[in-house]
Amino acid sequence: MSDAPSQRDAAIALLAFYREAGIETLFLDAPRDRFAETAAEIERRQAKRQAEPASPPLERKAAGPAQRSEDRGSPSRPNFGEPAGNGTTDSAFPSTRVAIPDEIAIADARERARAAATLAELKELLDGFEGCNLKITAKHTVFGDGPQTADLMLIGEAPGRDEDMAGVPFVGRSGQLLDRMLEAIGLEREKVRVTNTVPWRPPGNRAPTPAETQICLPFIQRQIELVAPKILVCLGSPSAKAILGSAEGILRMRGKWQSYSFDLSPGSTIPAIAMLHPAYLLRQPAQKRLAWRDLLALKAKLEETSGKNTGH
Ligand code: URA
Repeated sequence: MSDAPSQRDAAIALLAFYREAGIETLFLDAPRDRFAETAAEIERRQAKRQAEPASPPLERKAAGPAQRSEDRGSPSRPNFGEPAGNGTTDSAFPSTRVAIPDEIAIADARERARAAATLAELKELLDGFEGCNLKITAKHTVFGDGPQTADLMLIGEAPGRDEDMAGVPFVGRSGQLLDRMLEAIGLEREKVRVTNTVPWRPPGNRAPTPAETQICLPFIQRQIELVAPKILVCLGSPSAKAILGSAEGILRMRGKWQSYSFDLSPGSTIPAIAMLHPAYLLRQPAQKRLAWRDLLALKAKLEETSGKNTGH
């Protein structure tokens, strides 16, 4: 009898390799070239935009929410559920959608998010939003945890596996460390608003792409506005880069107070700070001394903003 590995063993080994590489969701039996599809879709959109004398996106944006709902379904509006190509359904791939955010899609997402008057409305919007491919593979939209209004708001990068399963941010190992960090400066997690820049888990825990982050940004900006915290904390570099617009690495930008301007009222600002992400601290425990410094700075700022230790 030959001791060559059977096809079954080979398939099992291949699956184990995929899992190691972070590939854990299978959609199709046959390979599909998403790069070629993306290039074709961008070309198609550019050609369509050049061909149509439609009003520019900013005019549509300025028209406000009332016009927006009437406008729903118009040909120049981004249609996130529409298949790539000329609009005909490709029978080989009937159930997968492609959502490639471009500037029109991002402006549209911003317009929608701004129209949400409450967190419940914003959550409903996200539940119905089809403009980000991450949603296709995620089990839950991980919207946020904690009070609807809170003095302190923490924003991470994106949900991990545990968060996706639970539908709640920061519940896995990083979340447990985060809870202990808050506890160390006398804060209860239940009193803090905790959320992420991107509300859907990227498959295999990969980093969200810049386009995925950009299309989600208006929703997290609106969430910050609705929670109206007194202090904002960005956990880790991707969150600080997206929310605070910082270009530096996290070890340089952490611990420095900045001002966050609200999207709808840029004149109103709140203090914001970037801190090391708990997942990073789990990998680099020696850096906890830096995190401790930042936590003490946060505690002092919270006391200052709530009127304690100010001499009043
Ligand atoms: N890491 C994050 O950035 N967010 C979570 O919710 C969990 C882990």
